Amino acid sequence: MSPAITPVAGRPGSRILSVGSYLPSRVVGNDEISALIDSSDQWIRERSGISERRRASADETVASMATEAATKAIARAGIDPSEISMVLVATVTHPFQTPAAATEVAFRVGAVNAAASDLGAACAGFCYAIGVADSLIRAGTSKYVLVIGAEKFSDFVSWSDRGTAFIFGDGAGAVLLGPSDIPRVGPVIWGADGGQIDVITMSQSWTDYRDNPGEHYPHLTMQGQTVFRWAISEVSKVTQRAIDAAGITSADLAAFVPHQANMRITDALVRTLKLPEHVVIARDIKTSGNTSAASIPLALDHLLEAGEVTSGGLALLVGFGAGLAFAAQVVEIP
Ligand code: UT7
Repeated sequence: MSPAITPVAGRPGSRILSVGSYLPSRVVGNDEISALIDSSDQWIRERSGISERRRASADETVASMATEAATKAIARAGIDPSEISMVLVATVTHPFQTPAAATEVAFRVGAVNAAASDLGAACAGFCYAIGVADSLIRAGTSKYVLVIGAEKFSDFVSWSDRGTAFIFGDGAGAVLLGPSDIPRVGPVIWGADGGQIDVITMSQSWTDYRDNPGEHYPHLTMQGQTVFRWAISEVSKVTQRAIDAAGITSADLAAFVPHQANMRITDALVRTLKLPEHVVIARDIKTSGNTSAASIPLALDHLLEAGEVTSGGLALLVGFGAGLAFAAQVVEIP
């Protein structure tokens, strides 16, 4: 019989220590988009809740925006970057097959002792990464984990596609997680329905494009109504399960920070969950658009900066999107 392998000592829990975010400076209003897709400011506001979104410049990348957001989160946590043991970047718009954006980000923030990897779960990516980070910390594998959601969707949207061109924006949000004597990150409720991979997907694969180059390189396509209906019927169940798994009720929540997909989806989730009046609802989509994996940390940071939520309250997070992947958990606001 082989000798027993020494296990790593686990920890009781993890917590989010800090948040940071970054938005590119260029504001793109609805009129600019409408001119490209035969739409209008009124239609876009009414159907999605979006007034404007940000667009990264040519020299801004997923890694550079992630670095900006992460640098703020690290400074706010007061942790030396050399103490970070893992950097996870949730993204689907890093334009290199390899290496991972996280390796560049770890280097740029000075996380010289960190493992680094990207996580691809589209708009559920940030909550997936929080679930992984919490598990790493509780298992004793990592002490401090930097989780970043960063997207440059402007590189992967067709500006003539009426179903997507007005929705997506660029940006990044980051959190630093560390150990806690009492769990401050609730159990993650997550999953994916690969039977619906066609509902949000790329127009073609890179290899198909290589063999039959079209007018436009691979870009995002979405059956909006199908996703909308799925989000309203299924995501509310996922959020309720996350509340139950955390051992709380919705009355204990201070904030609801869903993925910023569409204001009408947020409104429907709030109604279905029957959230009490005092729960602050993140409505960052109005000015940031849908930034996929970045939308939840961006919205949380903006709520903190505006003083709409305070440290110590509980926030319900839920991400959902291509895959169709979803993940939700309750966390304590840092
Ligand atoms: O982040 C990942 C997850 N993504 C989501 O959760 C997105 C979910 N889906 C949505 O947010 C919505 O489906 C959209 C905002 C994408 C679209 O809104 P909708 O209310 O579902 O619009 P629709 O596709 O049902 O189209 C309604 C009408 C149609 O006209 P008719 O047939 O009623 O005359 C469309 O042709 O609006 C028309 N339309 C537009 N009109 C102006 C569709 N796109 C546009 C447009 N501008 N961009």
